Amino acid sequence: MTTPSSPGTSSPAAVLRPHAEQLHADELARLAEHDDRPRPPGWRLSPWAVTTYLMGGGLPDGSEVTPKYVGPRRLMEVAVATLATDRALLLLGVPGTAKTWVSEHLAAAVSGDSTLLVQGTAGTAEEAVRYGWNYARLLAEGPSERALVESPMMRAMRLGSVARIEELTRMPGDVQDTLITILSEKTLPVPELNTEVQATKGFTVIATANDRDRGVNELSSALRRRFNTVVLPLPESADDEVEIVSRRVDQIGTALELPETPAGLEEIRRVVTVFRELRGGVTGDGRTKLKSPSGTLSTAEAISVITNGLALAAHFGDGVLRAADVAGGIVGAVVQDPVSDRVVWQEYLETVVRERPDWRDFYRACREVS
Ligand SMILES: Nc1ncnc2c1ncn2[C@@H]1O[C@H](COP(=O)(O)OP(=O)(O)OP(=O)(O)O)[C@@H](O)[C@H]1O
Ligand SMILES: [Mg+2]
Repeated sequence: MTTPSSPGTSSPAAVLRPHAEQLHADELARLAEHDDRPRPPGWRLSPWAVTTYLMGGGLPDGSEVTPKYVGPRRLMEVAVATLATDRALLLLGVPGTAKTWVSEHLAAAVSGDSTLLVQGTAGTAEEAVRYGWNYARLLAEGPSERALVESPMMRAMRLGSVARIEELTRMPGDVQDTLITILSEKTLPVPELNTEVQATKGFTVIATANDRDRGVNELSSALRRRFNTVVLPLPESADDEVEIVSRRVDQIGTALELPETPAGLEEIRRVVTVFRELRGGVTGDGRTKLKSPSGTLSTAEAISVITNGLALAAHFGDGVLRAADVAGGIVGAVVQDPVSDRVVWQEYLETVVRERPDWRDFYRACREVS
C-alpha cells in the first residue's frame, strides 16, 4: 500500500518545474559548507558565495558550481550588494534578459526560498501586497489573527526572507504605493487588530520590470527612490548567447525527459545569428542593413525555438536536430504580424540567408514553411 502524500506536496520526481532552491539544493549546501565569509543577518550565504552561485566557479573541494547567469559579474555583485543594504533591488531590462531568472536564483541563494512571490498585473489588489481576510472566519469571529490571511510580502517580513515582485510596473499605482511604507519603515500596520508586523533581519524585496512596459504604470518617484536599479543587458556577443541557449536547452531537455538528442551547436548558432541580426537591424558582418520585425526575438525565444526543434527531432525526425526542425519555430517567432513582419522575413530570407553557401539546407527549410 502506498501512503498518500499530504496535500500540497508532491514527490520531487513528479514536479514539472522544481524551484531553484530544490533543483540546486546540493550546490547551495556545498557553498554554505565552504563559505567562511561574513553573512549579513538572516542570510544563508555570504554575498561572495551568492555571487559564486550565480556566476559559477570552483569550490575548495574540487567540485564545480554551474553558472546560472551569463553576463557581467559586476552586475551580479551590485545586485547582491544592494540586497545587503536596506534598499530594495529592481531588475530592469527588455524581455528575455533573465530578470525573473536572476530574481529567483538570488532569492534561493540568499533566503533558501524563492517562493514568496507577488505577480504584478493590472488586477493585482492591495491584499496581495499587504494581507487579506478569511471571510468565513471574519464573519464568525470578527477580526483576529486567525482570520488574517498573510500575503507573501508579510510572510517574507516575518521570516526575514526575500520577497519577489514580478512585473512591478504593471501593478496599479495605489498598490505600488503600499510598498513605500514597507520599504521605508520596514513595518506593515494591521489597523484592524491594532498591531503591526515588523520585518525581521534578512527581509528585502527584489522586483522585476520590463523596459517595454514603461508607461503602463510608471513607478512613482517616491517608490523609485527606494530601489537600486540594475539593468540587465542583452547578451553582448553571439558566443555568450549561444552558451546561454545551449545551457538552458540542455537543462530543459533533461527536465522534460526528452529522448536524448544532441543539441546541434550549429543549429543553435544559426538561430542565435538570425535573432541577433534581425534584432540589431544589421548582418553580423555589418555590411547589410535589415529591417527589424515587431517581435522581441529574445534569448528566451531562441531557447524555446531550439527546445521545440529538439522535440520534433526526437519524436518525428531521425534524432538529430536539423534545419527543418527549427525553421517553423523561427518563422513563428519572427512573423508575429502577418503583414509587415512577413515582408521583413521574406527580405531577410532572400537577401541574406540565400546568399550563405553553408545555409542552403536552412534556406530550403524556411522556404517550405514561410
Ligand atoms: N544572460 C543570461 N544568462 C542566463 N540565462 C539567460 C540569460 N538571458 C536569458 N536567459 C534565459 O532566458 C530565459 C528567460 O529569462 P526570463 O524569463 O528571466 O526573462 P525576463 O527578463 O524575466 O523576461 P520578461 O520580461 O519576458 O519577463 C531563462 O530561461 C534564462 O535562463
Ligand atoms: Mg520575467
